[in-house]
Amino acid sequence: MKRVLILAIVAATAGVVFGGDSQDRTGGKQIRVGFAQIGAESDWRKANTESIKAEAAARKIDLKFSDAQQKQENQIKAIRAFIAQGVDVIAFSPVVETGWEPVLKECKRAGIPVILTDRAVDTQDPSLYLTFIGADFVEEGRRAANWVVKSVGDKANIAELQGTPGSAPAIDRKKGFEEVLKQHPGLKIIKSQSGEFTRAKGKEVMESFLKSPEGKQINVLFAHNDDMALGAIQAIEEAGLKPGADVKVVSIDGVRAAFEAMVAGKLNCTVECNPLLGPQLFDAVDAIMAKKELPRRIVTKESVFEQSEAATAIKDRKY
Ligand code: AHR
Repeated sequence: MKRVLILAIVAATAGVVFGGDSQDRTGGKQIRVGFAQIGAESDWRKANTESIKAEAAARKIDLKFSDAQQKQENQIKAIRAFIAQGVDVIAFSPVVETGWEPVLKECKRAGIPVILTDRAVDTQDPSLYLTFIGADFVEEGRRAANWVVKSVGDKANIAELQGTPGSAPAIDRKKGFEEVLKQHPGLKIIKSQSGEFTRAKGKEVMESFLKSPEGKQINVLFAHNDDMALGAIQAIEEAGLKPGADVKVVSIDGVRAAFEAMVAGKLNCTVECNPLLGPQLFDAVDAIMAKKELPRRIVTKESVFEQSEAATAIKDRKY
C-alpha cells in the first residue's frame, strides 16, 4: 500500500518514465493501443486528444483512436472493436461513471489491460482496470469555492453550470465546491443546471438563469468548465451586465481562451485541469509492456490562476 502511494506521488510530481522505445520491447512488433475518446465537446478535450495522438506518434505506437461523440454506447462499441482487433492495451476516458462493468469484464476475459484516463468509473471490482491517470476533481471544486470565499467574501448568490450529468467531473466538482460552501452559510447556490460542458449550452442555460425570477440576485457564476463559462459570459453581456464585475466568474480547466477572457477582465479565476495526459498515458503503456508495476492512481499536478496573473501566465500556456 505504502509502495503504491509512493509510486503515485513520484509519478504525479516527476512524470516518471517507465520505458523507452516502444518497438524494441515487443521484439520489433509495434505496440497497438486502442483509445476510446469521449468527443470534442470543449477546448480541454481537443487539447487532450491532441496530446494523446502526438505522444503516440512520437513513440511510434499504432494508435487506434475513436471519437464517441458524447455517447456511452459508442465508447462501448469502440472498446469491443479494440478487443476484436486484439490490441495490446485499451485506454479510455469514460463519459459517465456507471455502466462499464460488462465491457470491462470482456476486456479482462480477453486478457487486455485497461487504463482509465481523465475520468474514473464506478465499480466494486478493482481488477477491471490497471490504473487511473487524471486530476482530482473534488479538489478542483474545493479550489473554485476557496477562490469565492477569498475574493467575494462570505455572502453571495451563486449560479452553477454543471458538466455532463453522471460524469465524474460534474459529480466530483460539485461535491468539492459544496463541501467548502457548507462552512459558509451565506454563500448560496440559487440556480444549478447542466450546461453539458459546451459553450453553446453554457450560454443557453445562463440566459435562462438570468431571465428567471432569481436572475437579478446572481452575483457569482461557478462553471464546471471554461467552455461553459465562456458561453455564459456572452449571455451576461447580452443581458447588459458586466461579467467579471456584476457577476464574478470562476471556472475550471485553464484553457487559453479562459486566459484571454481573464486578460479582458471578463473571467475572474480558472482552476487548472491538465489535459496533456499523453506522456503519462504512454509511460503507463510502456510500463505494462515491460511488465513493470504501475501505481493504481496517477494524479496530475495543477494550479489556480487569477485575473491579476493572466497576462503573464498566458505566455506559457500550452493549450
Ligand atoms: O473530464 C474533464 C472535463 O471534460 C473538462 O473539464 C471539460 O472541459 C471536459 O469536456
